Amino acid sequence: MAEGDGNFTDGAWTDVLAAVDRTYADLIAHQQKLEEQSEQLHELRRFIGSVMGSVSEIMAIVDRDGLIEEVSASLSDTTRSEPAALIGSDLAHLFVPAGAKAITEALTALRLSRSAAHFEADVMTADGPAPFEITLSARVNDSGRLIGAVLVGRPLGELRQAYSELEQSHQRLQEAQTQLVRNEKLASLGRLLAGVAHELNNPISFVYANTHALERYVTRFETYFERVQDGAEREELVALRSELKLERNLRNLRDAIQGASEGAERVRDIVADLRRLSADGTAAADAFDLVDTARVAAHWVERGSKSGVTTRFTGLDNLTIRGTPGHVQQIVMNLVQNAMDAVRDLDDPVVGIHVDRDADRAILTVTDNGPGVAAEHRDAIFDPFFTTKPVGQGTGLGLSISHKIAEEHGGSLSLGPGPGGAFQLALPLSTDMPQPQRETE
Ligand SMILES: Nc1ncnc2c1ncn2[C@@H]1O[C@H](COP(=O)(O)OP(=O)(O)OP(=O)(O)O)[C@@H](O)[C@H]1O
Ligand SMILES: [Mg+2]
Repeated sequence: MAEGDGNFTDGAWTDVLAAVDRTYADLIAHQQKLEEQSEQLHELRRFIGSVMGSVSEIMAIVDRDGLIEEVSASLSDTTRSEPAALIGSDLAHLFVPAGAKAITEALTALRLSRSAAHFEADVMTADGPAPFEITLSARVNDSGRLIGAVLVGRPLGELRQAYSELEQSHQRLQEAQTQLVRNEKLASLGRLLAGVAHELNNPISFVYANTHALERYVTRFETYFERVQDGAEREELVALRSELKLERNLRNLRDAIQGASEGAERVRDIVADLRRLSADGTAAADAFDLVDTARVAAHWVERGSKSGVTTRFTGLDNLTIRGTPGHVQQIVMNLVQNAMDAVRDLDDPVVGIHVDRDADRAILTVTDNGPGVAAEHRDAIFDPFFTTKPVGQGTGLGLSISHKIAEEHGGSLSLGPGPGGAFQLALPLSTDMPQPQRETE
């Protein structure tokens, strides 16, 4: 080796080789890191790809100018365009003109404020325009600069469909409820009918017996007048009169006629009560006497219950309210029926109705000396179908229907404190008539 080359001693070579080694090792390390990063990047792309492939919402990633960089499989399905055909195109072109305008405006707004936009827009799908609920949010880089946007769209068609199905089932439920209310009416009408049959039986047999008697009397008078017409002697007629007991029969005739007409009147009243009760909800509101109606209601329940319990009335004797008499009667019947049910097993059953008023409402309270409503049931008793009665004995609709009717009348139905059962019905007083003063005054 030449002297001039003395600089390149063995030591120097060793140094160079060591440096090359180090550089090489660095390179390898660097490449390894790069490969790792590239693997991570791949992983990330696969992850994004799987998200894009599986979201049911449509999704697009766009750059600052609204040009598509990435689309979800659902968006490419919806528009029936290959992802490759969509990438690079203008996002706004996927929408009908009004939607395109909204997208452009939202992108402009994002540049200014970065706040996400929510709006409805129609996407041009393969089957024509379809509504989507769109959210467009900003994509920013590490230094906070806007680099584009992410669009997510939820198809509203399905939602609307689901909503209309919900509406339909709600409607069906309401129909079923109306049907049940009708059934409840029928049930209480059934109870009522038992009483009606009994009630009608009395006056009708009264009328029948009296007409029967009348017929007998008529036959006797006919016999007598035939003899008169035949020119019978005075003595014979006197004898015949006493034989046929005509004087007494004449008095009885009056009684029989009165009896028959009383019976007929009773029948007429019963029929009038029933008419009132069967008035449907469309009946016009009327001014009527609450006490009268309550008496009729209590009477019918007593007839139907056969327990022999009678309702004790206290308070005002008359009070004119405004509403549908048949409906108010139904409330009182439900309340009295519940009270009767509550005292069924008592030795000294008491059911009472007290009528009073405040400034502008009539207040009718139905009480009983039964066990009252258990504390844990107080919140539930007005719910439809809540009943503590055995199957077949209560539908649990009485109070819920009564509550509804009271409110429809601009009044209220509430549970009083007890100790026994106590239900308070408040209804607006009629303003057309002079009213009795308050009980307490
Ligand atoms: N006077 C009362 N005393 C004690 N509990 C009562 C009284 N009135 C109502 N309840 C309770 O409230 C529940 C609901 O009453 P509601 O009148 O709505 O239905 P029901 O009487 O059970 O059945 P339905 O009236 O439909 O035949 C009753 O089952 C009962 O538990
Ligand atoms: Mg009831």
